[in-house]
Amino acid sequence: MSIDFTGRTAIVTGAGRGLGREHALELARRGARVVVNDLGAGGDGGFDAANAVVEDIRRMGGQAIADGGSVTDAEAMQALARRAVEAFGGIDILIANAGILRDKSFAKMPIEDFDVVVQTHVLGTARSVKAVWNIMREAGYGRIVLTTSAAGLMGNFGQSNYAAAKLGIVGLAGSLRIEGEKSNIRVNVISPFAVTRMSEGLVPADVAEQMSPRHVSPAVAFLASEESPNGVILNAGKGRFSASRMVTSPGIELDLASLSAETIRDNWSRIIDPVGEAYYSSAHSFSRHAIMGQAEPSHAG
Ligand SMILES: NC(=O)c1ccc[n+]([C@@H]2O[C@H](COP(=O)([O-])OP(=O)(O)OC[C@H]3O[C@@H](n4cnc5c(N)ncnc54)[C@H](O)[C@@H]3O)[C@@H](O)[C@H]2O)c1
Repeated sequence: MSIDFTGRTAIVTGAGRGLGREHALELARRGARVVVNDLGAGGDGGFDAANAVVEDIRRMGGQAIADGGSVTDAEAMQALARRAVEAFGGIDILIANAGILRDKSFAKMPIEDFDVVVQTHVLGTARSVKAVWNIMREAGYGRIVLTTSAAGLMGNFGQSNYAAAKLGIVGLAGSLRIEGEKSNIRVNVISPFAVTRMSEGLVPADVAEQMSPRHVSPAVAFLASEESPNGVILNAGKGRFSASRMVTSPGIELDLASLSAETIRDNWSRIIDPVGEAYYSSAHSFSRHAIMGQAEPSHAG
């Protein structure tokens, strides 16, 4: 059966261009009513772009409205959620995609560039989720896709602000996944690879087409669907898909009586030995199994 969003309402932040635009179009093509958010007046023209995306969706026969609120503005996000409910009767899907870059080596980075990137990605994501969270809880249904980056998962030169922010989003998703479960809210994370304004010039022209953001959006549509997994970090781009997760080495337990920096040094290779690495589904599970030594989790792998 094909994935169909008829009757569902989706909010996509930062959807005036780039990946967000393609996500909005993909959801609309599959029947979703879409709120296309991008920066309004005072931004860099994102709201005009959002209006153009709304026009594109309407031309396809779909339903959409534009919203110019900044994700960093908690009140604007609340107003966005209210508008979505008024226009379409509820909110089923949130794609938190809006983002910016301020790349520089940490040595040269003004701290304001760190602040604004963390504000946009971490606080902006939290504020957009906060605006829809209780609406989804009350409805007993929600699909949320947050946006991370390989820079956040692995680190990258010149992106300390962005990497910190993008891994912050993964931490947010990890907790929301647990808190949302009983309300049938599923929270997944997309880690895209695409040539957009954000990354143009970074890849050779001949692979740019294969790296179109429209090749990422099918993954977002799946994560936004009724059959979505929960708590997955999905790398997607150029037709390649893989999952990332945080794993922990089995480690060792040292005798407390002789514990010292030297015994840690002397046992270092055993502590970091990756053979038998395990995945823990929560800090609670980690502390019970890896710290308190209770039986291994069934999902270790
Ligand atoms: N392009 C990639 O390869 C890549 C890789 C990893 C992660 N990402 C992430 O994907 C997302 C989309 O990136 P993109 O490449 O499409 O970039 P883009 O610059 O083309 O689009 C981002 C959009 O977000 C909007 N935006 C920025 N700040 C906003 C705010 N405060 N409120 C509302 N809208 C705001 C911008 O106006 C813009 O339209 C970002 O979160 C980015 O970090 C992109």
